[in-house]
Amino acid sequence: MNVRFVTEPVAKVKADLLAVAVPPSMDGAIRELDEALGKQLVRELEARRFKGAVGSAIVVPTLGRLPARTLLAVGVGDGSFPSLAIAASRAGREARALHARTLALAFAANGTIANRLVEETFNGNYAWQAYKPEDERSPALESVLVVGAGGRADARASSVRLKWQSWTRDLVNAPAADIYPEALAAKAQELAALPHVTVEVWDADRCRDEGCAGIIAVGQGSDRPPCLVHVRYAPPDPKDRVALVGKGVTFDSGGYSLKPTDGMMTMRCDMGGAATMFAATGAAAELGLPIAVDCFVGAVENMVSGKAYKLGDILRYSNGVTVEIHNTDAEGRLVLADCLIRASDVPGVTAIIDAATLTGACVVALGDDYAGLFASNDALAKEIEAAAVNCAELVWRLPMHAPYNELLKSDYAQIKNVGGRAAGAVTAALFLKHFVKDAIAWAHLDIAGPAFREKANGRWTAGATGELVRTVLRFLEVRSGQAD
Ligand code: BES
Ligand code: MN
Ligand code: ZN
Repeated sequence: MNVRFVTEPVAKVKADLLAVAVPPSMDGAIRELDEALGKQLVRELEARRFKGAVGSAIVVPTLGRLPARTLLAVGVGDGSFPSLAIAASRAGREARALHARTLALAFAANGTIANRLVEETFNGNYAWQAYKPEDERSPALESVLVVGAGGRADARASSVRLKWQSWTRDLVNAPAADIYPEALAAKAQELAALPHVTVEVWDADRCRDEGCAGIIAVGQGSDRPPCLVHVRYAPPDPKDRVALVGKGVTFDSGGYSLKPTDGMMTMRCDMGGAATMFAATGAAAELGLPIAVDCFVGAVENMVSGKAYKLGDILRYSNGVTVEIHNTDAEGRLVLADCLIRASDVPGVTAIIDAATLTGACVVALGDDYAGLFASNDALAKEIEAAAVNCAELVWRLPMHAPYNELLKSDYAQIKNVGGRAAGAVTAALFLKHFVKDAIAWAHLDIAGPAFREKANGRWTAGATGELVRTVLRFLEVRSGQAD
């Protein structure tokens, strides 16, 4: 990924694709290009009723008068940062469709925002083509020129962010046939090559010996054994110590509470939380952030077999909580519970964040664009909200309404693993809370919507998005005092 910040006039820029921001007022770089094109540009946009709505885009003729091969007008709406981000990813997506290798972005952005827009451009350009025939593949963008952006010449942090976000997307997109629990652990082992990172994997026997009740129960139905992965990033002189937890269900059939075909189709995405947290940890290590991170993932495949866990089973966790199984498809929380217990036991940990494709109910509430945010602590919630804003990612806080604990009551155990249809995302969060030590600030991100898109739209291709990797990383940057 090559990024250059250039100050030459927009009409002189050479690139396969020149993307120019079109605000509804049709000013800025669009005026300069209009001059260069003999006043034909604004006229063309008006003739085609292009009004600069955010994320809209059209290819316009250059009449051979620009060094750029193709000109793309991209609507930026109100020109706010989130709107520019949407427009930049649209430009990246069009670059892919047009087989462009170099893209010039004339968005009048500077400083951190220019860096974020570069990230968004590469995000939009992402495609997962590992299994596409050669003649249906398109080349990735090689370089982005940011036109008119003075100052910031350091795109290193952006390229690290993007690398790990793409790593996440590749990992989540890969079929469950390739990414089973031990394969997910092997991917995490890649992080051990980074400075101050160690990776420890507990196999199924060790998980049983350590009392990982959820990992064992959910994982026992599969021929692919489960495991627990602990990635530790321990830099010298850390300013803070946090734990990250990710849901690593490499395939979720639902178990005996079997999903119908439609619901099961995309369930290779159910390790999205794990990939997100591995990536945030890897990026923190690669950037050398002075913050210690302990990342825990329970890797399991939720399957149906003669060995699978059953309705009415009761699990006894190592923190003493007992759970009656009312639905084998509410498996993620069972696996996260083991990891949250271990995260709570990390000496000196000041915050725990988990990410999980946890509930369809969260998608019903917020759709695909917003992650649900739950937090036991207002200050931590605000930190995560601010981190998300910085990256133009969307989180929305939902209440951990304590009276709904009533819905989790079990006749035979302390709690059951589902609370019924009402407030399904909330009762899932309340379930998790039983496994976090009260004194530790904890936040839960339900990424069932944003982690994976069933359908492409103007901004995202179909499949994994890697959203929230950058928000979690930003949180770590701020906590370590290294935010730009
Ligand atoms: N992995 C699913 C949640 C999910 C749904 C992720 C859609 C991504 C997209 C989770 O394990 C699940 O099955 N949850 C159940 C919980 C229910 C049984 C209480 C759900 O949401 O239906
Ligand atoms: Mn499930
Ligand atoms: Zn699941």
